Amino acid sequence: MTEELNWYQTLVPYTQVVDELKVKLRGMRKQFEIENKHSPIELVTGRVKPVQSMLDKARRKKLHDDEIEDVLQDIAGVRVVCQFVDDIYTIVELLRKRDDFDIIEEKDYIQHKKESGYRSYHVIIKYPVQTIHGKKYVTAEIQIRTLAMNFWATNEHSLNYKYKGQIPADIQKRLKRAAEAAFQLDEEMAKIKDEVQEAQWIFNQIRPQVKEVGEHR
Ligand code: GTP
Ligand code: MG
Repeated sequence: MTEELNWYQTLVPYTQVVDELKVKLRGMRKQFEIENKHSPIELVTGRVKPVQSMLDKARRKKLHDDEIEDVLQDIAGVRVVCQFVDDIYTIVELLRKRDDFDIIEEKDYIQHKKESGYRSYHVIIKYPVQTIHGKKYVTAEIQIRTLAMNFWATNEHSLNYKYKGQIPADIQKRLKRAAEAAFQLDEEMAKIKDEVQEAQWIFNQIRPQVKEVGEHR
């Protein structure tokens, strides 16, 4: 229990980082909207890994306590969801240009999808956060994916949780087909991207009142 309590204290800066990243990424979306441009960012979510699941993962990976923060890159996790696959690469470019954190690794699971069918782009960063004890560099994982990839990954994640990582073969087969369908959906949408964006632009022109600066998403 005391071990857990100590971890709560250690993870306070991680909460700060997730909150700051959410504000910054949502700020980018808002800026695109205000400038009447298609925003590559549709929505942003984030979470700090619950202490217990962090400790479970550390145990699975046979980590010592003092290795946990270095090895587990997703204690602070932010997810950026977009409409189109090429939005993902636009976002990656935007992240590379920033100077408020350092990118330490990029994993392109879109060009190289996982065996499970998982697709996403991961950017691992070191983010300097100010604490009452001074500056601390926190590792955070930014997952960037389309709505279709997100739909698939959240469902697969739920099933993995339910079956404790041992998804029955028949369901696994369906998941692979669903992953293929999600891929096809992204491909088809990419082909009519200009049409969709024009429609959305027109829609936004006729209802400017909903584009309040404080609108939440
Ligand atoms: P873990 O997979 O978390 O042990 O870390 P890793 O170092 O292997 O990194 P990886 O990039 O494989 O995974 C990081 C995160 O991506 C995971 O915590 C998940 O959120 C997500 N992820 C990776 N693979 C899958 C997958 O097959 N399905 C789902 N739903 N999510 C995945
Ligand atoms: Mg993994």
